[in-house]
Amino acid sequence: MIDATRIRQVRAWEALDSRGVPAVACEVTLAGGATGVAVVPSGASTGTHEALELRDRKALRYGGRGVRAAVENSETMLAEAVAGLDAADWRAVDNTLVAADGTPDLRTLGANAVLAVSLASVVAAASELRIPLYELMADGRVPLLPMPMVNILSGGAHAGGAIDVQDLLAVPIGAASFAEAIEWVSAVRSAAVRVAVEEGLNASLVADEGGLGLLLDSNRAGLDLLMRAIDLASLQPGTDVAIAVDVAATELAVDDGYRLLLEDRTLSAIEMVEMLADWCNEYPIVSIEDGLGEDDWAGWSELTDRVGGRVQVLGDDLLVTDTKRITMAAERRAANAVLLKPNQAGCLLWTRRAYDAAVKAGFQTVLSARSGDTEDVWLADLAVGWRTGQIKVGSTMRSERTAKWNRLLHIERTAGVELELARPFAVTA
Ligand code: PGA
Ligand code: ZN
Repeated sequence: MIDATRIRQVRAWEALDSRGVPAVACEVTLAGGATGVAVVPSGASTGTHEALELRDRKALRYGGRGVRAAVENSETMLAEAVAGLDAADWRAVDNTLVAADGTPDLRTLGANAVLAVSLASVVAAASELRIPLYELMADGRVPLLPMPMVNILSGGAHAGGAIDVQDLLAVPIGAASFAEAIEWVSAVRSAAVRVAVEEGLNASLVADEGGLGLLLDSNRAGLDLLMRAIDLASLQPGTDVAIAVDVAATELAVDDGYRLLLEDRTLSAIEMVEMLADWCNEYPIVSIEDGLGEDDWAGWSELTDRVGGRVQVLGDDLLVTDTKRITMAAERRAANAVLLKPNQAGCLLWTRRAYDAAVKAGFQTVLSARSGDTEDVWLADLAVGWRTGQIKVGSTMRSERTAKWNRLLHIERTAGVELELARPFAVTA
């Protein structure tokens, strides 16, 4: 069997992500004939500590964002390194890939070049073995459906001119199944359009992750609108559907604090913590992501101290799917949950190490897509196989988003056994 899953060929090419920006695409062919294809996603509000995407900055094509050099690296150095390896042994494949690059942020060959081969290899292996990808990733553990965290209102770098806060999300914490979870959040998004239209707002701007980019007067107005939408969808705020916030505060950071353009004021770290703690008191918030900037460790510790006992304090730009930063956050009590983005780490193995470090620290984990994503569905399988407990891929529209929801609905229906839906925010009703 192992012979059939040996890597025979790696081909790569330049494709497009959901924002029309070039992305590395890769096809791995195995000795047994099966193939796996993957297209690497890319962020907009990227953290400076993330693994480095290689882009053809000096070339004029695609405004300097082409990925021809990364494609070439996948097809040459990386392809040669993994030739003949067993694709089902993804840890060994990834060890070889990162050794070929030789740097901690994969800057030599490009994190996008490495991740393309890493992902296409496991997709090919699952196909050759005729098992679903989540089963391959589960390593014999029982798979678990993740609780979805779904973008309803978008702002920041994903919706120019809308609210400062990047995402206001709905979390269907009381749903009995994944299908019901999606039905509920879909109802909330439709209701949010109706509320917006009633308020005379233009609800036609669909942001990068499929959320509504509404021109509101304040960030709090976004929370109020989301509350009304949950209500209008005939759902109970706080028991059926809770709220999550991704402030993406690194994008708001200025010399003397955090700039809220919409509200024309600049907050110190302490004022930001105060504002977020007030929001947690007034709204059924279960998770706050990137409430402070990527290196504001003191601010993060303050926020965790204030709300960490009852709310998920979720590190994205702060932790960048990095084992060392997660361990540091645990020591400093600077967060209690980690957003895992495979392209922040650069390969599956390093994403998995970050997951293991999070579990060891007692942190919750949320697997996440990027704002520039692709039609691929491997992320959904990863969440189920690794039992990440939560997943965040954007809203209930735009095909690169629904592809992941649809894959999870598919898994729920066809798993053969009834898979449990994770309950990171258990309701006691
Ligand atoms: P990004 O946004 O992909 O643009 O970084 C997603 C997030 O901040 O969670
Ligand atoms: Zn984020």
